[in-house]
Amino acid sequence: MTVSLTIQSISAHYGKTAVLQDLSLSVAAGELVSLLGSSGCGKTTTLRLVAGFLQPTSGSIKLGDRDLTTLPAHARDIGLVFQNYALFPHLTVLENVAFGLKQRGIATQERRQKAAAMLERVGLSGLGDRLPSALSGGQKQRVALARALVIEPPLLMFDEPLSNLDAKLRVDMRVEIRQLQRANGTTSLYVTHDQEEAFSISDRVAIMNAGRIMQLDTPEVLYRKPANAFVARFVGFENLLPLQVVARDGALVTAEGAGGAKITLSQDDFGPVPDDFILGCRADGLSVRHEGNGLPATLGMRTYLGRAYQYQCATPSGDLVANGALSEPLAAGSAATLVPVPEQCCILNPQR
Ligand SMILES: Nc1ncnc2c1ncn2[C@@H]1O[C@H](COP(=O)(O)OP(=O)(O)O)[C@@H](O)[C@H]1O
Ligand SMILES: [Mg+2]
Repeated sequence: MTVSLTIQSISAHYGKTAVLQDLSLSVAAGELVSLLGSSGCGKTTTLRLVAGFLQPTSGSIKLGDRDLTTLPAHARDIGLVFQNYALFPHLTVLENVAFGLKQRGIATQERRQKAAAMLERVGLSGLGDRLPSALSGGQKQRVALARALVIEPPLLMFDEPLSNLDAKLRVDMRVEIRQLQRANGTTSLYVTHDQEEAFSISDRVAIMNAGRIMQLDTPEVLYRKPANAFVARFVGFENLLPLQVVARDGALVTAEGAGGAKITLSQDDFGPVPDDFILGCRADGLSVRHEGNGLPATLGMRTYLGRAYQYQCATPSGDLVANGALSEPLAAGSAATLVPVPEQCCILNPQR
């Protein structure tokens, strides 16, 4: 049975300090959603609330139509996988995996069968009699995964499960986790501070900052259409230029930055432009030209990227990074125009 997870307006405090403020989030049945953000932004706290290790000061948490908010942790039926594995050191691998089944009163024979089958699925058949101390980090994390999956929980939660593994294993394991999660169709909430990991493993990603979700979308939308300057910076937009509209003429909008850089954009190309906005893009969203309708700039250092040249550019409203064609390298000190490429640029609302 697959069910959805609905977190509705939860707030959380440690003592008097607010850690989460009015956070809402839904994970659809069978979906994998990641919480992505820097250390201290409240990812683990969100998982602890859902797991029942911490009580919210307001709001509710539902799994399907079951209200979890006041249920004790052991009654919530959630599979958990942590960074530090949290295996029982005195139990064998098989006993570790069978542990949750024993708690649920499943008979010895069936327990052993199910645990052995799950160990096979995570690629550990033959290691059931070992103690955790005789396993590598990757093997331990597979045991933790098997232990979480074997109880067939309606919800799986992962807290930085790959952070203790080396780079190559991290990539292999995230593919395996994704395949198992898809095959079982288990609704999952996954925490990481690693953007590549979040984007590669998730159906949708919630980018968090200081206890709030800044944007929740598919990786493709987050990467191409960040909703605000925070997310834009997070996904690698080098250029964030605050501008103010000074004239409108039909679809044409002329805007000026502090310091006096001026540009005219067509709303037919860029969509609606509010009076105050931030023009955001990566270097490949600003094209270095001899002339054209764009921002006047003086070129600085040029870097060869293979597919283009990249230029440091000085404008009256601040420094930008832009790409230019390989066919016409321009010298440092040249005057040029930086033309925004509509599909690669975002008109961001500075208030959000
Ligand atoms: N037990 C605790 N007591 C007090 N403050 C805590 C506790 N646990 C976490 N915090 C604080 O709450 C904030 C969010 O922590 P956490 O959810 O662990 O962040 P993340 O998992 O995103 O790194 C941080 O500022 C952290 O210092
Ligand atoms: Mg954490």
